[in-house]
Amino acid sequence: MKRILLLNCGPHSDASHGYRLAREVLAATGIGPVSITERDLVQSPLPSIGRDYAIALTSGAAHEVPEFACSEQLIVELEQHAMLFIVTPMHNFTVPATLKLWLDHVIRINRSFEATPQGKVGSIHDRPTFVLVSSGGFFAGERARQADFLTPYLRYALASIGISDVHFFPLQGLVFGPEAVAQAVHAAGQQLSEKLHAQLSFNLANQPVMTA
Ligand SMILES: Cc1cc2nc3c(=O)[nH]c(=O)nc-3n(C[C@H](O)[C@H](O)[C@H](O)COP(=O)(O)O)c2cc1C
Repeated sequence: MKRILLLNCGPHSDASHGYRLAREVLAATGIGPVSITERDLVQSPLPSIGRDYAIALTSGAAHEVPEFACSEQLIVELEQHAMLFIVTPMHNFTVPATLKLWLDHVIRINRSFEATPQGKVGSIHDRPTFVLVSSGGFFAGERARQADFLTPYLRYALASIGISDVHFFPLQGLVFGPEAVAQAVHAAGQQLSEKLHAQLSFNLANQPVMTA
């Protein structure tokens, strides 16, 4: 069974263009049994990073302390899935706060990465990761009129824990009316289907996955 962790990060939850497209493409793959775990970061918000967590983190507390319970749960969940699929809007040129908070829980020193004299070294096995990025305007290609801090930031943040097989799919121009939305969904859907089909057929079954 191929296991996919689907993170849904936007305020529209299951009504978002990105989520609906992701589910449609996943349903249409037709490649053997796939199990999808969904985490909706708006419907089920994560706890904010409080003082207790910050103190535990910087004082080198053991993994088992209650302050790390949520962080630990999210890291184990990630480790248990052969593929990560992030569905996110662009908010003010970068990731929405929901996804940033997930990253703050998952990127943890001495757990998901080690600090070495050469820099941070990830401890999570690499795995194919798709990022479907919806935006009202354009941030990629010739119509882009705004900075994109989302793509480089997320690529860097995921690489810090060992995930570098990351593929971005823009779903952009969503404020320009139904025709523009239909075009954007069609273009992103084609890219996604091709890449997903390739991943599920050839790569996913061979990914090493740690279990808790
Ligand atoms: C708080 C907020 C900030 C936003 N910032 C941007 C932005 O920087 N660039 C952009 O193109 N669209 C921006 N948008 C528009 C959203 O990206 C867009 O509505 C969303 O991605 C729609 O996709 P969905 O239907 O998949 O949720 C923003 C929307 C909100 C609510």
